[in-house]
Amino acid sequence: MEQQSIQREEWNSKLGFILAAVGSAVGLGNLWGFAYRSSQGGGAAFVLLYIFVVLVVGIPIFVAEFSLGRSTNTSAVLAPIKAAGKKWSALGFLFLIAPLAIASYYAVIMGWTADIFFQSLIVGLPETTSQAGELFNLIHNGTRDFVGQIFSLVLAFYIVSGGIRRGIEKLNKICMPILFIILLGLVIWAAFLGNAGEGYRNFLFNFDLSQLANPTTIRNAFSQAFFSLSLGIGIMITYASYLNKKNDLTKQAVQIASLDTAVGLMAGLITFPIIFTFGLNETISNSTIATLFITIPSGLGQYGLIGRLVAILFFGLAYIAAITSLISLIEIPVSALIDKFKIKRNRASGITIIFIFLLGIPSALSTDLLGDIDAIANVLLILGGFLVSFLIGWVIPKTLDKELTNSGSSLLTRNYLKFMLKYVTPVLVAWGLIISVYDLLKG
Ligand code: PHE
Repeated sequence: MEQQSIQREEWNSKLGFILAAVGSAVGLGNLWGFAYRSSQGGGAAFVLLYIFVVLVVGIPIFVAEFSLGRSTNTSAVLAPIKAAGKKWSALGFLFLIAPLAIASYYAVIMGWTADIFFQSLIVGLPETTSQAGELFNLIHNGTRDFVGQIFSLVLAFYIVSGGIRRGIEKLNKICMPILFIILLGLVIWAAFLGNAGEGYRNFLFNFDLSQLANPTTIRNAFSQAFFSLSLGIGIMITYASYLNKKNDLTKQAVQIASLDTAVGLMAGLITFPIIFTFGLNETISNSTIATLFITIPSGLGQYGLIGRLVAILFFGLAYIAAITSLISLIEIPVSALIDKFKIKRNRASGITIIFIFLLGIPSALSTDLLGDIDAIANVLLILGGFLVSFLIGWVIPKTLDKELTNSGSSLLTRNYLKFMLKYVTPVLVAWGLIISVYDLLKG
């Protein structure tokens, strides 16, 4: 019996694993992070730098995390120790605190998302920016955001305790196709807005070369890449630990990174036309969080019934994107508890959820605190990414080779990734990390 309870689950299908990883990656970070960071960091310069980071840093780290997870067959918290000994327990610890920290405020923001969704569905939208601001004040003050936070955590508990196949994989198989359909529909709708062209220009074609040397733009590109791809935090290690040996890790890394980047770009193709059509460009650069929760509702509020319908779809989409990310964050400590203490999944999920709720109380009470925790957590992801690439590239390069060979990778791919993870990726991430820490402390 004991044997049965500790037997590790496996994904039902290759597609199930990819969708779960995409589900983790695609989240609120794509929908608001991309738009506001790009508006802060000179549009196209940010977008180009972001794509560069995804290609040179993101994809190799995906492969590194997958290799670590699949070879050790254990949760991210324990994997570094299993692979390279006790010295690496600090990395395991990082993979415990970073997901807990992010989940704690992520659930709060999800609560706001649910609130605006129901607001558009039942009551209607605010018509001016100041009304939208008042509404947002109501939402994120006092008891109201606890309701949404608890709702989201209970939902996540229900899914994660269902297990890999019957919980996480099943949810993603249902949600991801719906998400892509709504997203595509909204991109097409936004293309017909009055000032869509100006929105696109600011988002994609407003190229200011000097922005490439701006520390904030560099930090934004690294933070956005790690956060959006769910890297440097142990999720891809944990998800890959439920993988069988036959999957082609490199191919899947490219697929997941491409889908996630496509969603970020598509979200920009929705939000920028809305922002420029309704003359709201001032409001986005003022606040990080306001973009999604003040600007979008007040823009759509000027557009009558259709605007309301779009708001329902947009915030419904955001919620779907977010729940598939939240469960991945929760799965890391849950799988660690199961692996380490051999307790039942139900119990591990319950403990984790309660802990995340308590940890989220400061964020529910203060958006400033929430912003601070977010900024610090983002730097932790970059640190995690550096350590993982260093671990795989320098300490256990044989593991990478073996996993890639198992994946059926060609010699060229293998050599390319070994080279990148040794000489290119860690160096670039170290550079990004130093600039990010500098920029964080300066701010
Ligand atoms: N990638 C998710 C998003 O873009 C957030 C996330 C970050 C999820 C880190 C898991 C780990 O919203």
